[in-house]
Amino acid sequence: MSVLVTGGTGYIGSHTIVELLNAGEKVIIIDNFSNSKPEVLDKIKEITKKNVVFYKINYLDEKEMQKVFEENPDIEVVINFAGFKAVGESVQKPLEYYHNNVTGALILLQMMKKYHVKKFVFSSSATVYGEPEKIPLTEDCKVGGTTNPYGTSKLMIEQILQDLYHSDSSWDICILRYFNPVGSHESGLLGEEPQGIPNNLMPYIVRVASGTLKELSVFGNDYPTPDGTGVRDYIHVVDLAKGHLKAIEKLRKEEKGLYIYNLGTGTGYSVLDMVKAFERATNRKVPYKIVERRPGDIATCYADPTKAYEELGWRAEKTLEDMCQDAWRYIEKQTEK
Ligand code: UFG
Repeated sequence: MSVLVTGGTGYIGSHTIVELLNAGEKVIIIDNFSNSKPEVLDKIKEITKKNVVFYKINYLDEKEMQKVFEENPDIEVVINFAGFKAVGESVQKPLEYYHNNVTGALILLQMMKKYHVKKFVFSSSATVYGEPEKIPLTEDCKVGGTTNPYGTSKLMIEQILQDLYHSDSSWDICILRYFNPVGSHESGLLGEEPQGIPNNLMPYIVRVASGTLKELSVFGNDYPTPDGTGVRDYIHVVDLAKGHLKAIEKLRKEEKGLYIYNLGTGTGYSVLDMVKAFERATNRKVPYKIVERRPGDIATCYADPTKAYEELGWRAEKTLEDMCQDAWRYIEKQTEK
């Protein structure tokens, strides 16, 4: 049996592929390198010494997708990482975002239905909670009130999955709501490589530390948080990747269902905590200045990850120091070249 992974050369996808291969899974990857590079496939091989089946296709291409399912009758489960993910860009390009993320998921699900593959793991996001009803966030907190098309596309797909399961309970679905993934594989071979100037905090910090960018802009220090800067639940990407293996294990069990899990550590750190932790872990300086709040940002967001622990037996194990050191190691390796 094999696991089909869309978006498998992206940041979270590639780390998950490594964990799947290390666990002895047979993997098929689909990607069109819209936000990743072919070299990632070589790195995966270098780390795991294992081969994957790879298709360079856009998951919106129904004919090509059909070919994948025809050629691989042993697909048992699909993990969907494919999708656009830049929050700011999604505000500028809503049609592109809805088309790529929502239509892509629909095509994938239709294909799965046609080929009787009914185990599905979906990459969702804590963004679906909008303004948090309470902190820490539990899976039963209200969702909605997303402030950008990226977040709304995740929410729409969650709704589609609910409706699908409601219509046919032979589906077996796991929705994983990621908090803030950071860091990279300890080999320094895989990591996060946003194109252009990064939007997210950790990629920005590492580029300031390496001298590529001058200083970090801290978006607001007047939030109702201990030091006034935004608080988030940063989780090591390898911990997050391992959560997917646990999700697959759950779907392989006898009973069918639609399950939702927060994948976070349960601890919130502020922007300034992150700057200090990074400086301590890497011995580099991260100059910063305080600027205006970023529109659409919330003050505090962190998970209650109890449900994932109780039902999946998963919890994050890596420390904030690991997250900072591993994020930095990747950048150092990149600049060595
Ligand atoms: N921040 C800065 N300066 C920067 C970048 C970020 O101060 O240059 C701050 C933000 O204001 C926020 C924190 O750092 O307080 C984290 O910001 P990120 O952009 O790294 O992450 P977000 O929490 O805003 O968003 C992330 C993902 C989204 C996802 C969301 C789910 O990027 O895809 O988490 O909660 F939807």
